[in-house]
Amino acid sequence: MEVKVYQNKVKVAKEFSKFLIEKSSNKKVFHIALSGGSTPKIVFDVLAEEFSNDVDWSAIHLYWGDERCVAPDDEESNYRMTVEHLISKVDIPEENIHRIKGENDPKLEAKRYDDLLEKELPKELGLPQFDLVLLGMGDDGHTASIFPHEINLWISPDNCEVAIHPESGQRRVSITGRIINNAKTVVFLVTGDSKAEKVRIIIDREEGYLKYPASHVSPKTKDLIWFLDAAAAEQLTIDQS
Ligand code: 6PG
Repeated sequence: MEVKVYQNKVKVAKEFSKFLIEKSSNKKVFHIALSGGSTPKIVFDVLAEEFSNDVDWSAIHLYWGDERCVAPDDEESNYRMTVEHLISKVDIPEENIHRIKGENDPKLEAKRYDDLLEKELPKELGLPQFDLVLLGMGDDGHTASIFPHEINLWISPDNCEVAIHPESGQRRVSITGRIINNAKTVVFLVTGDSKAEKVRIIIDREEGYLKYPASHVSPKTKDLIWFLDAAAAEQLTIDQS
């Protein structure tokens, strides 16, 4: 695991954009699973506004690690967030966008997306393999939409599962641990002081850390990188770059 700490969210966004350009350059196709929530907004803005000419968008295929079971124009939609902050600003072919249809029946959509990943992604060890999976982490230590109260979903034999948000009861469709840990590279994008405690517990493997889904992220390739801002890393004892 590699931990990269930058002064602020903008610096995280710039450095992640450079990282993505390096990882995706000279690739005929590059399959990325995007994270949702609010953290990616500034990352997508900076990527689109300052670095989009350095990305070969014709090779980039976008998927989502999870989606809220709402319509694509709903303010809660991860797809809508991504359209507003990235897709609407870059020249990516429509056919390269593989969204989770949050408006569909959750169970049927989990199955449909499960099949889509099997069809669209190359296989590694018999499982679909993303080139890059982007993950966020909640203050409660959840990642994608695998929450502590449903941590059993992490070890699901399926690629996608229906999850339930612990407070709102909102249904989510989420990829599972077998897909996340089969990726070539996994990146956590985590910013803000509300995340600092779980970042410390999970990265420092403190007692009880395994009850947090984010602690189970361990790609077989060992290529796991945390992009943190100083606020999220404030309880860690490492140098700031
Ligand atoms: C979602 C996410 C989720 C998110 C974390 C962090 O749909 O909510 O994919 O896993 O990454 O909840 O959310 P914030 O970035 O808003 O803190």
